[in-house]
Amino acid sequence: MKFQLIQPRIILLCLVLLSFSTAVYSQANKNQKALDEKVQAFLTKNKSKWRDLNVPYEDGQVLHDLIVKHRYKSALEIGTSTGHSTIWIAWALSKTGGKLITIEIDEDRYKEALANLREVGLSEYVDARLADAHELVKKLEGPFDFVFSDADKNWYTQYFKELDPKLSVGACFTAHNVNNNFSGINDFMQYVRSKNNYETTVAGSKDEGVSVSYKRSR
Ligand SMILES: C[S@@+](CC[C@H](N)C(=O)[O-])C[C@H]1O[C@@H](n2cnc3c(N)ncnc32)[C@H](O)[C@@H]1O
Repeated sequence: MKFQLIQPRIILLCLVLLSFSTAVYSQANKNQKALDEKVQAFLTKNKSKWRDLNVPYEDGQVLHDLIVKHRYKSALEIGTSTGHSTIWIAWALSKTGGKLITIEIDEDRYKEALANLREVGLSEYVDARLADAHELVKKLEGPFDFVFSDADKNWYTQYFKELDPKLSVGACFTAHNVNNNFSGINDFMQYVRSKNNYETTVAGSKDEGVSVSYKRSR
């Protein structure tokens, strides 16, 4: 008798919980869709307007797609400039529920990046630091599952060495301009390719390019 009374209440409670979680889920979907439209419009509008050593659109897309594909959540960028790559990375993290630490040494660029992130609606996914990455990278705790290195090319190998212990298995270390003949790039590529526990390929634009190194084991 008692059980017969309780059963309809349990069913009712389940229905209420189900409709509540459906409403929350569909609101989150609507919010993400609105954000996606805003970011896509911003990136398209500004595609040819970036003037501060920023990555080309194609390379930004590579970073975004890697993060979404592997569901990365804990990202680090070295070299924010005015925030083009930052926006691509932060946009991807808005989809995976992640967060980005990005580092820039130049105050004007840092401030412009902050303004761009605000305009596009991605500030909450980014912890932007005005700092010398030579000092800060050493101090960051990690672990990270995604790194984008795009500051001083002569320091790429050093950044990689310092970050390797802070990268989880499955993580991805990416670096920009690997198709350019800049000082430091060859040494970096040789070093990362010599690491047996990493698998390295090159993606993105022919003119600049992004190296993609997956950590396969400790
Ligand atoms: C190629 S730009 C980055 C472009 C940016 N990723 C984008 O796509 O918008 C390199 C940036 O690294 C910054 N940088 C150079 N050395 C640095 C250092 N030691 N610490 C932090 N930032 C540095 C420069 O000021 C410059 O803005």
